[in-house]
Amino acid sequence: ATLLASNRRPEILLRSSNHNFQPQASFKVAVIGAAGGIGQPLALLIKMSPLISALHLYDIANVKGVAADLSHCNTPAQVLGFTGPSELANSLKDVDVVVIPAGVPRKPGMTRDDLFNINAGIVKSSVEAVADNCPEAFIHIISNPVNSTVPIAAEVLKKKGVYNPKKLFGVTTLDVVRANTFVAEKKGLRLIDVDVPVIGGHAGITILPLLSRAKPSVKFSDEEIGELTVRIQNAGTEVVEAKAGGGSATLSMAYAAARFVESSLRALDGDGDVYECSYVQSELTELPFFASRVKLGRKGIEAFVKSDLEGLSEYEEKALEALKPELRASIEKGLAFVEKQA
Ligand code: NAD
Ligand code: LMR
Repeated sequence: ATLLASNRRPEILLRSSNHNFQPQASFKVAVIGAAGGIGQPLALLIKMSPLISALHLYDIANVKGVAADLSHCNTPAQVLGFTGPSELANSLKDVDVVVIPAGVPRKPGMTRDDLFNINAGIVKSSVEAVADNCPEAFIHIISNPVNSTVPIAAEVLKKKGVYNPKKLFGVTTLDVVRANTFVAEKKGLRLIDVDVPVIGGHAGITILPLLSRAKPSVKFSDEEIGELTVRIQNAGTEVVEAKAGGGSATLSMAYAAARFVESSLRALDGDGDVYECSYVQSELTELPFFASRVKLGRKGIEAFVKSDLEGLSEYEEKALEALKPELRASIEKGLAFVEKQA
């Protein structure tokens, strides 16, 4: 059973309301920030998953209407809306996966780090509630700057005594989705065949697509590698500029986040073949958090795909070394934020 967990079987999207196809809907998912630009289309996409029995939509405002609207779709998930801090705990009770896109998006001229001052506190309070109400859940952090908000979430969970590094994920799926799209376009490949791992982090040069690991195996000229890498790294900014003050990527992000939710649910359901890139606590490099491909299972991360980092091209090796200082600084900024609040 899959919705759009990978580019392998997207036709399931159309099958979710087909009565001949009824996998057991048994998982509960909460979206924190569900009335926002990402939250609404994300809620729509995951409402179509045949694996979900309950979909809890939380926001500080405007969420009841979204929930009422979505609840009329005839797919299995029961939709409930929760508004404001007094309803946050209930939105999280017994939840298997929590997705957090709460927070402000960029405007032209801003970096993701410029969002830190507002979003750090939003992620901290959201994750505190997760720790108190569903500490066993998979936690998907979308709010930027992801390079710092994931370390913030880890520290919050540690302070609450419930940190499980195997279940805390920074959502970098959009980088993979973009890499797949741009590589397929450039090389005239069928989209369904293309898979490009993206490692590092989720901002500027910390986003490192491993074109040498692209599937199917394709030859790129040095010029193509440079162009594609920069396009993937700047794709978020491309959208921010095109929206001209109206926010950042929401639709492609919702698609990517729905894929990551679906992968998590398949893993929780016992599928033994689920791999995704994600920004997680890691020992693959000297950095404490790092995005790479991981194997997902019932208990979260089951394994790291170490081989992706072996035999990198010279271009990738250099780019990997170049991203480390920036990524380290973002991690330290996140850790210091929680430390200071103590
Ligand atoms: P948005 O402003 O449209 O929506 C954010 C929502 O969060 C709003 O509905 C708002 O009411 C809600 N919110 C604010 N404070 C909250 C709180 N304390 N608790 C619960 N909800 C709260 O923004 P958006 O376009 O949906 O983007 C959300 C975040 O996702 C931004 O930080 C953006 O940078 C980030 N983002 C990340 C990726 C990624 O690849 N990881 C991609 C796109 C956007
Ligand atoms: C993205 O990559 O689209 C997001 O991180 C949003 C942004 O600010 O670029």
